[in-house]
Amino acid sequence: MELKTSADTSERTTTLNSPPTHVAIIMDGNGRWAASHGKSRSEGHRAGTENLRRIIEAFIRHGVKCLTLYAFSTENWDRPPDEVNTLLEIVNEVIRSEVQVLHREDIRLRHIGRIDRLSPQLRRSICESIELTKHNSRMTLCVAFDYGGRAEIIDAVRSMITDGVQPEDVSEDMLRRYMYTNGMPDPDLIIRTSGEQRLSNFLIWQAAYAEYYTTPVYWPDFDETEVEKALEAYASRKRRFGKVL
Ligand code: IPE
Ligand code: IPE
Ligand code: MG
Repeated sequence: MELKTSADTSERTTTLNSPPTHVAIIMDGNGRWAASHGKSRSEGHRAGTENLRRIIEAFIRHGVKCLTLYAFSTENWDRPPDEVNTLLEIVNEVIRSEVQVLHREDIRLRHIGRIDRLSPQLRRSICESIELTKHNSRMTLCVAFDYGGRAEIIDAVRSMITDGVQPEDVSEDMLRRYMYTNGMPDPDLIIRTSGEQRLSNFLIWQAAYAEYYTTPVYWPDFDETEVEKALEAYASRKRRFGKVL
C-alpha cells in the first residue's frame, strides 16, 4: 500500500472551505455488491477491503484528520459463522500486510469496540499496531470492530461505577472521557453507503450533531469522486448546533 504524500497530490486537492475534522463511515453494501456481480458475500467483503487504500488516501488529501471506519458491529456476530470467520480473517490479514505501511505514512491507528471476544492472537496484533503508531500525526485511522454504541455506553457506565464516580459528578464531559472514543473529536460527517438511512448502532452518543450523508453506491464502488461528492455536500450544510445563526 503506497499512500501518496500531500506534496505529490496537492494539485488534485479541492479547496473546500473547512473540511470536516472527523469523518466516520458506515461501509455498507458489500453483500449486495457481490450479488450484483454474481460473486459470494466473502468476495464482496474482500472487494470492500481493497477499497480502503484509495479512500484513506483521498481523505488525507482533503485534509481530514480523523477517519473512523465501521468494520464489524456487535450485531454482526449473528451472521452465518462462515461469513463471520471471513471477516475475522480479513482483519487479521489487513493488520499483517498494512500496519507497517500505515506507520511509514505517519498514520495513527486506533480501535473502538470490544476486544474480549477476539482471539488472543488478534487482540495482540491490534494492541501492537496501536502501540507502534501511537505517536503518528498525519491522520488517526480508527477502526470500529466489534463495536456497538449501546455496548460502549454500558461499558462506560460500568467503568464509572467501578471508579466510584458520584452521581453529582456525572457530566457530558465525564461520560465522553469514559467512551471508547476518549480523546477523539465527535464526528462532523457520517457517511453511509448502499442507500440505507440508519445508524445501525454506530457512534450513537458521538453523532448527536454530526452531518449525515447517504449514497446508494455500494461500499466497494465508493471511490474518490464519491468522497468529493460527500465532502461537497458537507461543505454546503449550515451547522447550527441548536443556535439561531
Ligand atoms: C457491510 O456490508 C460490511 C459489514 C457489515 C461487515 P454488508 O455485508 O452489510 O452488505 P449488505 O448490506 O448485505 O449488502
Ligand atoms: C452496519 O451494517 C455495520 C457495518 C457496516 C459494519 P449492517 O449491514 O450490519 O447494518 P443493518 O443490519 O443493515 O442495519
Ligand atoms: Mg449491510
